[in-house]
Amino acid sequence: MLKQIMLPLLKLLSLFLLAFSPATVQAQLKIGFYNKTCPSAETLVKQSVDAAFTNNSGIAAGLIRMFFHDCFVRGCDGSVLIDSTANNTAEKDAPPNNPSLHGFEVIDAAKTAIEATCPNVVSCADILAFAARDSSVLAGNISFKVPAGRRDGNISRASEANANLPSPLSNATQLINAFAVKNLTADEMVTLSGAHSIGVSHCPAFRNRIYNFSSTSKVDPTLSLAYATLLQLACPFNTSTSGNTTVALDLITPAVLDNAYYVGLQLSLGLFTSDQALLTQANLTAAVKDNAEHPGGWATKFARAMVKLGNVDVKTGNTGEIRKNCHFVNSASIDVELYVDEEKESLVATT
Ligand code: HEM
Ligand SMILES: *[C@@H]1O[C@H](CO)[C@@H](O)[C@H](O)[C@H]1NC(C)=O
Ligand SMILES: *[C@@H]1O[C@H](CO)[C@@H](O)[C@H](O)[C@H]1NC(C)=O
Ligand SMILES: *[C@@H]1O[C@H](CO)[C@@H](O)[C@H](O)[C@H]1NC(C)=O
Ligand SMILES: *[C@@H]1O[C@H](CO)[C@@H](O)[C@H](O)[C@H]1NC(C)=O
Ligand SMILES: *[C@@H]1O[C@H](CO)[C@@H](O)[C@H](O)[C@H]1NC(C)=O
Ligand SMILES: *[C@@H]1O[C@H](CO)[C@@H](O)[C@H](O)[C@H]1NC(C)=O
Ligand SMILES: *[C@@H]1O[C@H](CO)[C@@H](O)[C@H](O)[C@H]1NC(C)=O
Ligand SMILES: *[C@@H]1O[C@H](CO)[C@@H](O)[C@H](O)[C@H]1NC(C)=O
Ligand SMILES: *[C@@H]1O[C@H](CO)[C@@H](O)[C@H](O)[C@H]1NC(C)=O
Ligand SMILES: *[C@@H]1O[C@H](CO)[C@@H](O)[C@H](O)[C@H]1NC(C)=O
Ligand SMILES: *[C@@H]1O[C@H](CO)[C@@H](O)[C@H](O)[C@H]1NC(C)=O
Repeated sequence: MLKQIMLPLLKLLSLFLLAFSPATVQAQLKIGFYNKTCPSAETLVKQSVDAAFTNNSGIAAGLIRMFFHDCFVRGCDGSVLIDSTANNTAEKDAPPNNPSLHGFEVIDAAKTAIEATCPNVVSCADILAFAARDSSVLAGNISFKVPAGRRDGNISRASEANANLPSPLSNATQLINAFAVKNLTADEMVTLSGAHSIGVSHCPAFRNRIYNFSSTSKVDPTLSLAYATLLQLACPFNTSTSGNTTVALDLITPAVLDNAYYVGLQLSLGLFTSDQALLTQANLTAAVKDNAEHPGGWATKFARAMVKLGNVDVKTGNTGEIRKNCHFVNSASIDVELYVDEEKESLVATT
């Protein structure tokens, strides 16, 4: 009886503490940031994501992962969208992103539609944040408001993607640390890992577990043997023939953003060493169990954690820029315009 009363009270108390703890004070992002300056912005993004999803539902996973990879490298500043140049290998061409990251054309379509309606107002970083939310709705009916006002960065380095993005070979300590650096808790790390309930992986990311795992065991003993056999069939030993092959991350409900990922983990169906690592520390294991048992609770936590992920190191106010084209920093486009203008002038001058 007492426990039944105490639990709701504790929940209320923790909600109260959450709302007032300084750790949750969010930069200056605002819900409805474009209410006045570009009221159709979020609708235009949604239209672009909806169209892409109708054609290929795998796009939702691509966009959610792209958002995560943007936020973990220089904050959520659209740096993952910048193209490499002759002088610079950009984030998108780092091994954790290339060739696996996809959905850039969806961001481009949204940006083009938005620039045609309200030019120079909506950042690429915000478009990506909206698109990740719209993807969560489409893949899992997980809906949340996205505080906006992010500004775009003008630096994108492959080396920083390599340094900041957690590897699928990570152990629990490494995962906790990679998220702690971004002010995300171990529990939020477990919650966000639920995104692995949709989408696919290329064979090399889990190859370590199915061939030559150790001197005593060819297959990782913490992986279901039946599943390992399936994975070996999909991913032949010869890397040169399986490098581009992909398999689903969640065997149970591969296309639905739900808590089945955690159920699968408990059945030794986690795909990566890093997925499996969530069962190597008592604290994390408890969170996995809780998420496996409470789909609604997990979905609520996932929405909240996505908003928090969207606050990592954001640029606001007058910092950064509103990129004209998500692929290029503005100085690059201005250089091109000036070059063309100068050429015209010199043409005029010589005739
Ligand atoms: C905890 C550390 C994490 C690690 C080590 C990790 C690693 C990976 C790897 C290796 C892949 C497969 C890429 C490929 O080869 O195609 C992948 C896919 C994916 N990851 Fe993660 N990830 C982590 C956390 C997250 C988070 C926090 C999110 C989002 C909130 C996320 C969303 C996804 C999605 C949706 C896919 C499928 C992508 C697609 O289908 O294109 N991951 N992840
Ligand atoms: C934008 O409008 C919505 C709905 O009326 C409101 O909830 C939100 O606070 C507004 N945001 C801003 C920054 O004006
Ligand atoms: C539709 O999806 C396929 C992949 O499934 C992709 O190759 C193609 O470009 C997409 N078409 C459009 C119009 O988005
Ligand atoms: C690339 O580097 C060279 C030599 O450092 C420099 O002259 C050139 O301006 C750079 N180009 C760009 C686009 O930054
Ligand atoms: C989606 O979630 C809302 C509540 O957030 C619920 O009312 C609605 O029925 C759900 N839709 C589907 C298709 O499950
Ligand atoms: C996790 O990996 C790090 C770096 O390789 C290593 O130092 C640490 O001992 C590992 N922790 C565990 C518990 O295996
Ligand atoms: C994490 O929080 C600290 C203290 O509030 C802050 O100084 C730091 O910039 C934050 N880091 C990120 C990545 O948000
Ligand atoms: C398997 O791993 C061992 C070391 O762990 C290595 O000596 C051996 O060459 C590997 N075999 C194959 C076929 O990769
Ligand atoms: C791997 O496959 C490639 C292409 O089919 C082939 O040329 C190569 O000999 C194979 N390597 C091995 C070790 O089987
Ligand atoms: C994988 O895809 C890339 C890009 O499409 C291609 O260059 C490469 O040859 C492919 N590799 C294999 C083994 O099919
Ligand atoms: C376990 O998790 C709780 C809440 O996430 C945290 O406060 C506590 O420090 C963690 N304990 C250990 C041993 O990691
Ligand atoms: C990037 O932006 C900063 C300030 O926002 C500016 O000082 C710097 O010159 C810019 N660099 C490039 C390459 O555009």
